[in-house]
Amino acid sequence: MTILNPNYIYIDNTFKENIAVAFDKQIEAIDTMENLRKQYPEATIKQGRRNSVLYPGFINTHVHLEFSANKTTLQYGEFMPWLNSVIANREDLVAKCDNELMLKACEEMMHSGITTFGAISSFGAELEVCMKTPQKVLFFNELIGSSASTADMLYGDFLERLDASKKCGRGIIPAIAIHSPYSVHPIVLKRAVEIAKNEKIPLSAHFLESEAEREWLEEDAGEFLEFFQKFFSTSTSVTDIAEFMESFDNTPTHFTHAVQATKEELEYLANRGHSIAHCPRSNRLLGCGRLEVEELIKLDMPFTLATDGLSSNHSLNIFDELRAALMMHHMESINRLSNLLIKSITSIPADIFHLNSGEIAIGKDADFALINLPDQPHSLDDIALQTILHTQKVDNLFILGEDIRFV
Ligand code: BEZ
Ligand code: FE2
Repeated sequence: MTILNPNYIYIDNTFKENIAVAFDKQIEAIDTMENLRKQYPEATIKQGRRNSVLYPGFINTHVHLEFSANKTTLQYGEFMPWLNSVIANREDLVAKCDNELMLKACEEMMHSGITTFGAISSFGAELEVCMKTPQKVLFFNELIGSSASTADMLYGDFLERLDASKKCGRGIIPAIAIHSPYSVHPIVLKRAVEIAKNEKIPLSAHFLESEAEREWLEEDAGEFLEFFQKFFSTSTSVTDIAEFMESFDNTPTHFTHAVQATKEELEYLANRGHSIAHCPRSNRLLGCGRLEVEELIKLDMPFTLATDGLSSNHSLNIFDELRAALMMHHMESINRLSNLLIKSITSIPADIFHLNSGEIAIGKDADFALINLPDQPHSLDDIALQTILHTQKVDNLFILGEDIRFV
């Protein structure tokens, strides 16, 4: 048994003082230090530093490890030039991205307190790394392929990858990702959603990331027209927005981006139990616009904050992402937004994906991120904001009760 005694602890979405936590792999008790010492006299005691704050381990729902080699290669600013640069550099970037590099990406996430992440996997190349890292991984096997002639072959490949991730056991939660409305044929899309529904497998999909995507799906026009003519010899999209959304009607799905979704489309999704992954830096870098989180708040629609991959970001540090979100959504009250952002990387993703983490509560996994503020906070209500502003790295990280040591 270990007892961890921070200055402040994040419990029930608020910050409390003079509360410690006792745990093995799971959280056993939450009480004053004095009571816990009496209850567990043999326990190892870990004292937090002067202005330490204990959070549940953070959850980053959306990252592409396979593209971790990108630093300055890809073209930022607008979506289509970026996508074309991905296609032009894909082979090079994937070849450069060895296990060492991907493990470094996992470490960067751990430094920022991420104990669970959602890996969107195109080829299955990161499975070994995801088994090696001490973090828990929602392993999203991605389905791609809009062309009817290759859809079945690509679907077969997807099934094989899904199967491989089911066999991993420890730490790997098999999951399904639909690449996007424009890149997946509706027939195989329906089959994959059916698997997710029947086997209760977590499901996610990129959705309405760019203006170009909207124009293509609505009017078979815009920048995607040239792209599809060039690479797929077609001038018509395989689906439209309504048909795509309806395919998920009975299967709660985590939709990534949704920056270009209308209020009505967001309402449609919210009414069917879906949720959103919000990647503000990726959206900014690819010229996709700003997700109107205030609309999600009005709809009471759950959203998670995520980094996306290094193919559309400059770091996988969740504190960097929190700061970007805080500055981007300037119309929200800063304290209210800070608290919601902390929820968006803890209890909200845990609820969405039915994880036994994301909260400091008895029976939950002992996944913790211990951070240190540079000085005493003015009030307990400011701690979320001050954490977001001042934290670069965590002091300590625990996963299933184990103190993770990293360099
Ligand atoms: C496709 O496989 O259909 C596809 C892949 C990437 C972008 C667009 C389409
Ligand atoms: Fe993505």
